[in-house]
Amino acid sequence: MKIYKNHIAEKIAGIIGDDRDRIETLLEIPPSEDMGDLAFPCFTLSKDMRRAPDVIAEELGNKIGRDNLIERAEAAGPYVNFYIDKSHLISTVIDQILSDRDDYGRSDEGSGKNIIIEYSSPNIAKPFGIGHLRSTVIGASLKRIYEYLGYKVVSINHLGDWGTQFGKLIYAYRNWGDELKLNEDPIGHLYELYVRIHREEENDPKLVELTRSEFKELEEGDSENIDLWRRFSDLSRKEFRKIYKMLGVNFDSEKGESFYIDKIPAVEKSLKDRDLLKESQDATIIDLEKYEMPPILIRKSDDTSLYATRDLAAAIYRKKEYNFDKMVYVVGVAQSLYFRQLFKSLELMGNDWADNCHHVSFGWVKLGEEMMSTRRGNIVFLEDVLARTVEEAKKIVEENSPDLPDPDSVAKAVGIGAVIFTDLSCRRDTDIAFDWDKMLDFRGNSGPYIQYSHARICSVIRKYGKELKKEYNAGLLLLPEEYSMAKMLVCYPDIIKKAANEFEPYYISNFLLELCGIFNTYYQKYRSPEDRILSSNSDVADSRVTLADCARIVLHSGLKLLGISAPEMM
Ligand code: ARG
Repeated sequence: MKIYKNHIAEKIAGIIGDDRDRIETLLEIPPSEDMGDLAFPCFTLSKDMRRAPDVIAEELGNKIGRDNLIERAEAAGPYVNFYIDKSHLISTVIDQILSDRDDYGRSDEGSGKNIIIEYSSPNIAKPFGIGHLRSTVIGASLKRIYEYLGYKVVSINHLGDWGTQFGKLIYAYRNWGDELKLNEDPIGHLYELYVRIHREEENDPKLVELTRSEFKELEEGDSENIDLWRRFSDLSRKEFRKIYKMLGVNFDSEKGESFYIDKIPAVEKSLKDRDLLKESQDATIIDLEKYEMPPILIRKSDDTSLYATRDLAAAIYRKKEYNFDKMVYVVGVAQSLYFRQLFKSLELMGNDWADNCHHVSFGWVKLGEEMMSTRRGNIVFLEDVLARTVEEAKKIVEENSPDLPDPDSVAKAVGIGAVIFTDLSCRRDTDIAFDWDKMLDFRGNSGPYIQYSHARICSVIRKYGKELKKEYNAGLLLLPEEYSMAKMLVCYPDIIKKAANEFEPYYISNFLLELCGIFNTYYQKYRSPEDRILSSNSDVADSRVTLADCARIVLHSGLKLLGISAPEMM
């Protein structure tokens, strides 16, 4: 829309002698299509010019005539509605997409800027949670989006590999551990031990002391404890890697919390120098009462470090190491207060960059009843959920298209795509539910629906059979759906920017659903030999297939930004 906004702003500015850029920011997209493609509200000018907005609109409407970008301008009350020249818009967007191809919408607006995106961050020795999945999927998508806009992105997996729970685990493993089980099913066994020690601690307070001192020894570098901890950590990382592989996700750095232990003394010194530390009930805290927040705990009475201490050290380390312009933490909404405390503490420590840290939060994820049936003992393993989703996808795919050459890879693309799309299908802060029927509904608002629409276009192009040679005539694309589709394609680059600015991949998923909606109506509505996409009139067919190909390119690109693959047949 940029070129049209520019053009209209220039015309208006020329007539009233105002600043072009200011006019441009006032332009709006009208709520419905019959009110034109862009609208200019005259309220702001009315104040400056001391004339009624309707009068100004009337005058502008009369003075702005037709040209090759604008079909007409019309006053409607205090607004001037602009109707873009349809064939200009259609040919401009087709030319742009055909020349940029897979890079359509890419930009260099972030060039020279550095952003850290921290996501996933599951806890060692525990199952990879469904909440960690959402963090992973949102974070990985944001990484691709920011890279598309030219930013240098550093992706970090801040593994939860330190803390009192390791004292508990070490104690539990020494007393009840089973070497064989640990090798066979590391996470299952460690989780079993974790549950057991929690239960036993409740009945026997002495145990709490014992496990605490195991952690203290670990933090002081006791070599036996370190060896055990390292084993747990290596085994967990290996399990997590399987999940990342299924999802096609990777990281630039996987330094867990343990990495920051030796950086904590310097953090504490700087807190002390600024007089920020306070003793409270034997623990050391940063008092945040002035900011209407509870205190943040820095050191416990037994002198061991805490989650927050390690986060302070990590943030400071990352600033030094990467000199980021922006750092975002993709973490569930349960930690919102915690991140406010953390950023405030960084600010109090004199870090003026604390303002550039953001908590990108997301809502809760619920597993439907059926998914709960994949439980092993008490817990649902994400690996099992993913595997079952792919199995379910395979059943559907084989039923829909029994002749697919490679049903396994399509089932994998569809199953994993369905999971990823569910995580990205609404605003981050919305809670979501995982449910196979919905996720895999080829007709619903699902990942498979978009993949299916994409494959449908690929099939139209295959049937067309000729090479697409940029030979089209925008004057032949006169159906309302053709214009709506082209208009959507024009907006794609802006949608990517919006998704980045608000850390909301949802804008892209929603855009793709809408685009598929228009394409599928177009595909189904016109069935006569002349009217359908592969029209009997070959000039019309050339032009329609070219436009469909542009939609295909954009669907493919959008799915890729979300982390979803786009099979050509399904
Ligand atoms: N491991 C943590 C958890 O599972 C999430 C870590 C979030 N990142 C951070 N820098 N605190 O709750």
